[in-house]
Amino acid sequence: MYLIGIDIGTSGAKGLLIDRAGKVVASASESYPLFTPQPLWAEQEPDDWWNAACKVVRRVLENSGVAASEIQGVGLSGQMHGSVFLDENGESIRPALLWCDQRTAAECAWITERIGERKVLETTLNPVLTGFQAGKIIWLRQHEPGNYARVKQVLLPKDFIRYRLTGESATEVSDASGTALFDVPRRDWAYEMLDALELPRAWFPKVYESPEITGRITAQAAQATGLAEGTPVVGGAGDQAAGAVGVGVVQSGRASVSVGTSGVVFAHLDAPQVDAQYRTHTFCHAVPGAWHVMGVMLMAGGALQWYRETFAPTTDFETLVNEAEGAPAGAENLLFAPYLSGERTPYPDPQARGAFVGLTMAHTRAHCTRAVLEGVAFGLRDSLEILKTMGAPLQELRLTGGGAKSAVWRRILASVFGQPVYTLQAEEGPAYGVALLAGVGTGVWQSVPEACAATVQIAARTEPVPEHVAAYEALYARYRRLYPALREFWS
Ligand code: XUL
Repeated sequence: MYLIGIDIGTSGAKGLLIDRAGKVVASASESYPLFTPQPLWAEQEPDDWWNAACKVVRRVLENSGVAASEIQGVGLSGQMHGSVFLDENGESIRPALLWCDQRTAAECAWITERIGERKVLETTLNPVLTGFQAGKIIWLRQHEPGNYARVKQVLLPKDFIRYRLTGESATEVSDASGTALFDVPRRDWAYEMLDALELPRAWFPKVYESPEITGRITAQAAQATGLAEGTPVVGGAGDQAAGAVGVGVVQSGRASVSVGTSGVVFAHLDAPQVDAQYRTHTFCHAVPGAWHVMGVMLMAGGALQWYRETFAPTTDFETLVNEAEGAPAGAENLLFAPYLSGERTPYPDPQARGAFVGLTMAHTRAHCTRAVLEGVAFGLRDSLEILKTMGAPLQELRLTGGGAKSAVWRRILASVFGQPVYTLQAEEGPAYGVALLAGVGTGVWQSVPEACAATVQIAARTEPVPEHVAAYEALYARYRRLYPALREFWS
């Protein structure tokens, strides 16, 4: 008995085949292009996703030597928020508009005005952000009426793959939460909002909980992928919720801090709670009956990558970061503002910019590197602080992403957060989380927490360095004054 998880990411698709102990038996990935026909636009071809999904599934089956009949279920994950427009034949009308596409500011403002800000916030628990799906549909109506007239369905990226695999139009609560058209507390479409925006209800797919079976592999999809006809496909989850399942953040008290290109602080919630200023996103979790809240920092590992490429291109990450350990905590009062490509949490400001503040002749490269590592840690702490004021339980922080691999950075993060951080035995990202959901939906495990308990293991605990904790408390207070002080230079 085996399970498959498929993740439709922004740079490529990933497929994973796992056994019932959660061991990865085979994995494969396949990239596809991202198109930027105009500044701020970001599009992809849904057919590219489909071709890549077929290839990665074929490859994990072949490489593992597992027979298609032994695959008990398939789970789907993907980049959230995007908009796939399908015609009456189920064909894509134009390239999909992606989560990172920023063309819809006017449409988002119009939606907010039409519905009323308070109603939007009460219903969707989030402001209408330019990344979210709703603005993209209204944009099509405004700018491409010919295409709009042909629309019969609007799907999220991974749900397009489901449609091709099973012939079913379906979604699940975690991804639907990021459309700005979803009633997040009630876990169903916000029908009143759809009506008020004159968007046909029939365009929006049936909603399931994430582990539920939403359809089965058709004969045609079996041909294309090598899977067996009739194999169940479960709801799955948006990439953030799926990633959280993959690292066991599926019960109250657990949260994850992901240091990838971006930085995400993600906490499980037993009830829908929001930040009073809506600086974080509250969405349905992939755990039935649960929600989650997350803060998103746009450049975390990405800031270190930029720094290395710009100032130390011939030095590898490990050497650079180890060198930083030679500088004292606080880098002798050198602060780094990590807003290299604008920010989302806690400052929803595309104009925000990065800065080193406090340079002296005494500062070396080690100090500067350390300031970058610390600046990212402070930025993540901003999200943690918001989650704390909301009352989100954060007893156990699980650290993931490329940044988790560095012992130096782990110690800095634990010391800046003032609490231990945990790393995991294996970390395979969203595809792993949805493979677990496929196991829950097909009876391998009784619940999502049970699936995680059986498969996800903690590898190590990193303690804060006691004498650094106090130094960072003082420095964090100074860091918080950076953005407000620097803001006038950017606007
Ligand atoms: C979540 C988000 C990203 C995308 C792409 O809100 O914008 O995680 O899903 O990865």
